[in-house]
Amino acid sequence: MSELNELSEKLNGIKEEIRSELGKLESSKSVFEYRKKIFDSKTGMVGSLMREMGRIPNEMKAEYGKRVNEVKAWAQGVFEEMDEKFKAQEMRLKYESEKIDVTMPAKKPAMGYLHPNTLIREQIVDIFGSMGFDIYEGTEIETDHYNFTALNTPDDHPARDMQDTFYLSDKFLLRTQTSAGQIHVMEAKKPPIKIISPGKVFRSDDDATHSPMFSQMEGLVVDKGITLCDLKGMLDEFVKKIFGEGTSTRLRPSYFPFTEPSVEVDVSCFQCHGKGCKLCKGTGWIEVLGAGVVNKKVLEGCGIDSDIYSGFAFGIGIERIAMLKYGINNIKLLFESDMRVLEQIRE
Ligand code: DAH
Repeated sequence: MSELNELSEKLNGIKEEIRSELGKLESSKSVFEYRKKIFDSKTGMVGSLMREMGRIPNEMKAEYGKRVNEVKAWAQGVFEEMDEKFKAQEMRLKYESEKIDVTMPAKKPAMGYLHPNTLIREQIVDIFGSMGFDIYEGTEIETDHYNFTALNTPDDHPARDMQDTFYLSDKFLLRTQTSAGQIHVMEAKKPPIKIISPGKVFRSDDDATHSPMFSQMEGLVVDKGITLCDLKGMLDEFVKKIFGEGTSTRLRPSYFPFTEPSVEVDVSCFQCHGKGCKLCKGTGWIEVLGAGVVNKKVLEGCGIDSDIYSGFAFGIGIERIAMLKYGINNIKLLFESDMRVLEQIRE
């Protein structure tokens, strides 16, 4: 009998201890951990009680087991109750802390915008695309032949001085103009030809309006009976779409080795509409691109019969158009990724 009395005392002690420990617990996590500790089958105060069964005389084993199970059931019940209490409390706190005040002003997600260069390039591509032009993308590394010689600018031609060139070797260079693409296209395809060719070009040139790397868009049309009038008509359409309905173009004589005649194209000032302002330097006109009738020598060099076919070509500086359109006075602003500048330019 003494074993059973001893056990009763021990079980009461365990209950006491659990009760007083539970008072110290503060979260469902600590309840979980304490319960694990108590019920551990080797070291746990409750869990290890059954191991002592061996010591108990046979006739008392049933009673012993019963009492131990009672304490176990009691402990389980108490732990469950505590666990539920803490969980409810914790859930309430969680809801409380996650409560959303729907009347608070919302945080606006930062929006990305297209870069002004991209905007202009896409606009130009769209405009010429709608006129039926295809796109040809050349390579940034070119041979001296395609960039100069085939464009009627042989070695020692003074026009080579107009474009300070980055030479990679005697033969290879970084293209100074997208005009190089004209030759590739005319060699690969017979007329009718109607292409634009956007891309980066490179010149050893660096000031507020020039950068060693900038972008151009070449245009080339070759077919039977193409004249300067076709160029003028197309350019008038182009400037209306880029600079606004009220604008038009004028052509001034110029010189490019690969066109004859060559012209410099001005757009009527889209800011003052001809009255004269700072943007057009009081003239009412702004220079926007170079163009001309494709030189017969260039056509013949590409195997196109210049008695049957003629064409026009033009070269647009993308940054120049972006600077004019968005009132940017330094080309570097287009390459510096300064968000204060870029965020002002949206379309
Ligand atoms: N390639 C010339 C330049 O970079 C621009 C140009 C002028 C292109 C006249 C043309 C053209 O196709 O006909 O300055």
